[in-house]
Amino acid sequence: MRRIAIINQKGGVGKTTTAVNLGAGLAALGKSVLLLDLDAQSNLTLHLDVDPSRVERSVYDVLRGGTGIEAVIRKTSTPGLYVLPAHIDLAGAESEMSNEVGRETLLRDALEAYAAKTGRGAPVAMPRDAFVGSDAGAAGSGDGDALVLRSFDYLILDCPPSLGFLSINGLTAANEVLIPLQTQFFALQGMTKLLDVVRLVRKRLNPSLRLLGIVPCLYDARTKLSQEVIDEVASHLGNLLLKTRIRPNVKLAEAPSHGKTIFEYAPESRGALDYMSLAREIAGELEPAPGGGLAANEEEEGDHAPIGGAARGSASASPPLLSHSEVKLLAAPPGAEAEDGEGAGGAHDSAATIASEDARKSSPTSRGS
Ligand SMILES: Nc1ncnc2c1ncn2[C@@H]1O[C@H](COP(=O)(O)OP(=O)(O)OP(=O)(O)O)[C@@H](O)[C@H]1O
Ligand SMILES: [Mg+2]
Repeated sequence: MRRIAIINQKGGVGKTTTAVNLGAGLAALGKSVLLLDLDAQSNLTLHLDVDPSRVERSVYDVLRGGTGIEAVIRKTSTPGLYVLPAHIDLAGAESEMSNEVGRETLLRDALEAYAAKTGRGAPVAMPRDAFVGSDAGAAGSGDGDALVLRSFDYLILDCPPSLGFLSINGLTAANEVLIPLQTQFFALQGMTKLLDVVRLVRKRLNPSLRLLGIVPCLYDARTKLSQEVIDEVASHLGNLLLKTRIRPNVKLAEAPSHGKTIFEYAPESRGALDYMSLAREIAGELEPAPGGGLAANEEEEGDHAPIGGAARGSASASPPLLSHSEVKLLAAPPGAEAEDGEGAGGAHDSAATIASEDARKSSPTSRGS
């Protein structure tokens, strides 16, 4: 199973939109996908039409222990797409578990326990409330999914806008990191910090972790700023920049309030085209579709005025990022970590302090790096 953490400690850059619609795109390609909501805001849960206040068991219960993943999984209205919902309780998880030994690996432990059960292939009933929307009542009624624990092709983790306990659990449970980057002023602020945390998690907690790539979101090819940000990312992190660009599309912003993925809400939209392109690129099945967010788009709707500091002559005002060799190492498959020295900042002292240090230094609006 590929396990992809979608992370950026900046708020509102498109993490949840990407998690939902990348997951739905992969499901449309015939993959089975489990989306995991690691954010107390529960935006991903809501986007999939699950009411967090009516969720009996959530990711919070999994992290607290005693509740298996199988008791929390819910089906969505998209075939092949499942969700592990969040609840506002998750907001207290970090402080409640501050003294727990091994707290960075709680999620990974739960996923491993689930994998062991699915690996045995024994039929285990999923809970009745695993079925939502049109699937309600399907449990035990002959739907094969209802009776056998599934193993998934993809696990997609939607991380919160911070680098605290929940994000560290996400990075420790994942084996790939996808970074949505909003192509606006300050986009690269905080990137050094994010890459450094990925490097430390890989070194100390999860040697299988690697960078999958950076996906530009809200990318408007007609603005000079968008192109400047892309150029700057390419110059520092060129090998990480994915081909697909997610363009601004009002349908993507509307879909969550209808509890639908972009493919359900507006299958003909540019948003659907772009996320299908991303799904194909990540699945490695096809080259991204021509025009599917890849190239300049001359007809997009929305506000086309240059944003933020474009006129100030710099796209990011960011400090230097990791060196090319350090970035290459992070994108390399597991096994290369022997070369992974303390060079890229190395400001942290021990694994146990990663989460708490980052929680202290980062906030949803943090621009620090
Ligand atoms: N390509 C897009 N075009 C138009 N609107 C978008 C696009 N991507 C995301 N949005 C909208 O921008 C807002 C922020 O997106 P989203 O919730 O995905 O970001 P996030 O990084 O998950 O935020 P947070 O950090 O709060 O979790 C949402 O209202 C979303 O609908
Ligand atoms: Mg989000």
